[in-house]
Amino acid sequence: MAEDKKTKQEIERRRTFAIISHPDAGKTTLTEKLLLYGGAINTAGSVKGKANSKYAVSDWMDIEKERGISVTSSALQFNFDNYCINILDTPGHQDFSEDTYRTLMAADSAVMVIDAAKGVEAQTIKLFKVCVMRHIPIFTFINKMDRESKDFFELLDDIENVLGIKTCPVNWPIGSGKEFKGVYERDTKKIATFRSVATGGAKSAAETDYTMDDTELKTVIGDVLYNKLSEEIDLLDAASEELDMELVSKGELTPVFFGSALQTFGVETFLKHFLSMTTSPLPRISDKGEISPIDEPFSAFIFKIQANMNKAHRDRIAFMRICSGRYENGMEIFHVQSKRKLKLAQPQQILAGDRKGIDEAYAGDVIGVFDPELFSIGDTLTIPGKKFSYEGIPTFAPEHFCRITQSNTMKRKQFVKGITQFAQEGAIQIFQEYTAGMSEIIVGVVGVLQFEVLKYRLENEYGCDIRLEPLPFEYIRWIENYQEVDLSKLKHTGNVKIVKDMKERPLLLFVYEWMVQKTIDDNKDLHLKLVEFQKN
Ligand code: G4P
Repeated sequence: MAEDKKTKQEIERRRTFAIISHPDAGKTTLTEKLLLYGGAINTAGSVKGKANSKYAVSDWMDIEKERGISVTSSALQFNFDNYCINILDTPGHQDFSEDTYRTLMAADSAVMVIDAAKGVEAQTIKLFKVCVMRHIPIFTFINKMDRESKDFFELLDDIENVLGIKTCPVNWPIGSGKEFKGVYERDTKKIATFRSVATGGAKSAAETDYTMDDTELKTVIGDVLYNKLSEEIDLLDAASEELDMELVSKGELTPVFFGSALQTFGVETFLKHFLSMTTSPLPRISDKGEISPIDEPFSAFIFKIQANMNKAHRDRIAFMRICSGRYENGMEIFHVQSKRKLKLAQPQQILAGDRKGIDEAYAGDVIGVFDPELFSIGDTLTIPGKKFSYEGIPTFAPEHFCRITQSNTMKRKQFVKGITQFAQEGAIQIFQEYTAGMSEIIVGVVGVLQFEVLKYRLENEYGCDIRLEPLPFEYIRWIENYQEVDLSKLKHTGNVKIVKDMKERPLLLFVYEWMVQKTIDDNKDLHLKLVEFQKN
């Protein structure tokens, strides 16, 4: 009984979220500052890899080290204010991949970082769509207020119009760039003023609290900004949305915070508000109905598989999100898809490429386990006697395609093995033309960097040289009713390609979006779909 109580407490203090942003908006810097608060790292600069500094805590592959970026996602755990926080790291650079999307399937909420000078950008839109699909709460951090920013109201309009989500500013900036003086907290009506500090290891910019009535405030921020702020506060109070937590929880309204991650300004207040507004792990849908995170003993699903993380061991790590109960090292679990009972080997949390063996973990946590080539993405793990599976994980439509051919056909076996491995990891999707054998493979990816990762890993891990020939396709559709469709009679323009996936399901590749609609119009009985759910 005491154990149950502890499990409940542990689960209730869990907060598991992902940070999403367009490259360079400041996701890494914000993550780093959050980790600093939690004492998980000691110096700023240890998250992001730069030529002259340490590499990112989440970097581990050689290619990442060479480029100083993070290709694969990992989970970072730290404690703050009695919360146990799991940040799921989603790659933000050109290394955008399906992994990035899938990580969002494991998160309970998302933090969207937006560059104040740029507003909503392309990759944020893509990631945002996945959050919407899941109806998870989204919190916005408008970053780089210490630089010239767009008009603040325009930034809110941008979020509302481009993303279609309501906004409610929790704080409001006073000036930006050289004129950035601080933020006004709308709930406490207090003003935290800003003074730039040397960055690097510094924990935070100097902050002093004022109210609007303090005479000193005018001296600090100047008459012009004071008057502007007064007007804007009135405008916000009259016109902005209420902070309706019901809408926040459904992902229909985003609380907005302004600050500077680099200057560590507005980060702590953001973290505190965010933690109080987000929930601990919620029930998840399975084929047997909702599964309670607290009442149901251990269950988890696999959202990511990464092979050869440690070259010396040639291992394969499956990352799982625990959805209910408690995991204890050595306990017997049930792998629903293979109907096998097993013990997880080497359960670990991974930080900075360091693996930390774990004794226990709770709903909300992400753990990596050694995978004896048994697990697939989307699989469910429970305890013996419990047979249910969590909803499948969608396969997101790739947007870039290459034909790959092997330079050295002697290494055929390794080539097929490597390609199959990467497809199982979900980093790439493999397609074949109906007329070609395995000698010509079409690879589709969500982010172009995956092509380089593929080439690099095939060379380094499997000793295979390949040639990549970019193909012009950008749009892909699965044929929903393929059993009823005669592919040879399909009417389409010359540059639509019919291919099949690894499970022999046919799909169509298009160069332009209008071709999708034209093909649908020309073939009345054809049903196309954008997302394919993996059923294991
Ligand atoms: P990302 O993970 O979203 O790609 O962004 P990252 O945190 O790497 O930040 C991108 C650049 O923006 C970095 O500069 C970073 O220092 C800077 N930055 C982040 N937050 C702020 C902020 O609040 N204010 C200002 N002024 N800059 C910010 P860089 O020159 O690319 O790298 P570095 O050499 O400074 O590390």
